[in-house]
Amino acid sequence: MKFKTASHLKGELSVPGDKSISHRGVMLGSIARGTTEITGFLQGADCLSTISCFRSMGVEIINEGSRVIVKGKGMRGLKAPENVLDCGNSGTTTRLISGILCAQNFNVTLTGDASIQKRPMDRIRIPLTLMGADIRSIRDNGCAPLRIHGKPLHGIHYNSPVASAQVKSAVLLAGLYAEGETSVTEPYLSRNHSELMLAHFGAQIKSQDSTAAIQPADELYACPVQVPGDISSAAFFLAAGILVPGSEILIRNVGINPTRAGILKVCQDMGADIALLNRHEDSGEPTADLLVRSGNLHSTEIGGKIIPSLIDELPVLAMMACFAEGTTVIRDAAELKVKESNRIRVMAENLAAMGADVEETEDGMIIHGGKPLHGAVIDSHMDHRIAMTFAIAGLCADGETEIKGAECVNISYPEFYSDLEKLIRQG
Ligand code: S3P
Repeated sequence: MKFKTASHLKGELSVPGDKSISHRGVMLGSIARGTTEITGFLQGADCLSTISCFRSMGVEIINEGSRVIVKGKGMRGLKAPENVLDCGNSGTTTRLISGILCAQNFNVTLTGDASIQKRPMDRIRIPLTLMGADIRSIRDNGCAPLRIHGKPLHGIHYNSPVASAQVKSAVLLAGLYAEGETSVTEPYLSRNHSELMLAHFGAQIKSQDSTAAIQPADELYACPVQVPGDISSAAFFLAAGILVPGSEILIRNVGINPTRAGILKVCQDMGADIALLNRHEDSGEPTADLLVRSGNLHSTEIGGKIIPSLIDELPVLAMMACFAEGTTVIRDAAELKVKESNRIRVMAENLAAMGADVEETEDGMIIHGGKPLHGAVIDSHMDHRIAMTFAIAGLCADGETEIKGAECVNISYPEFYSDLEKLIRQG
């Protein structure tokens, strides 16, 4: 896939549904009583992996495109899959489903692609084992494939060493099945979609500061889930709208849950022109239309408690920092090393290939901005957010940018290139 300098981008679009909320809708819908209708569901490969795992455990799921119908089996209604569960490239599927599987009355093996088989699973294995679970890394390397023998669980209080919604959610989902209360405290609050949706489905769950506590449940009850647009996908159009001179883009119906919306604050701190219009709520999740106009940026510092609220947007923010006047520092973001790729290394290498002045640090990057970038050949490392970040960089750089493995955007945004193309054509 090749990109060249764009003059300006104009128009409106709706980005696909939120990935995190789409996963959770299928998971809770599957273990609830009754039929859950999910609208705005993300048809990305990651969420399709979640559907396929629950189908192999006997759940009828009708996928009609943006509407998905899940015929829940109840908390105890899943059945043993005949084969190994394949979570594909999806960390969310692997980690959250493990929390549910540890408490079933059957055994299961789950795995995923080459990237998933390198990502750390001890972060869920450790707390789930403390709850009485029998979950092992088959190769004994802390990664998938995982073998789970379903067992009765008991509640714990877990002080998580990382601010991770996947860890928190795995423990809370196991907590639905455990004896007694289960709670999780994180160093900083991570995305709270699980807490919001569990409450919607009738679970007794309370949150205070960075602690969430759940009571065991006899049943969850199906309810409609309306998925807002994914701010992590909108992020690429925010970047394009800000960086390509003369642009103006309206992104409709984007989820702006405060535990996800750190990018808006950072962009505004950097001097970007982003207006939030038409604010409302979908299934307890705040949303807005985002109107972005191009303008100059200045550098900033990104670290501490804001990090979990923009963790998936740090690649695109690092790219934007190359165009900002001054030095931008990203710190407290070591988690980037264990995403779909090592996003600190891969960003630093690819930005340097385009002529950026960027230093890799233990827990982030230092970016000396304000120097023009030139086109280059970019290795996406089959990481969807890297591919999309550099597609936008290619619009702002001199010459041509070629992205290797560009098709990996199908993980979270299959129509990304055609949506971008439309805005370029209207420009
Ligand atoms: C997610 C949580 C985050 C995020 C991922 C989706 C979720 O991961 O990076 O894309 O849906 O819970 P961590 O929990 O590992 O931070």
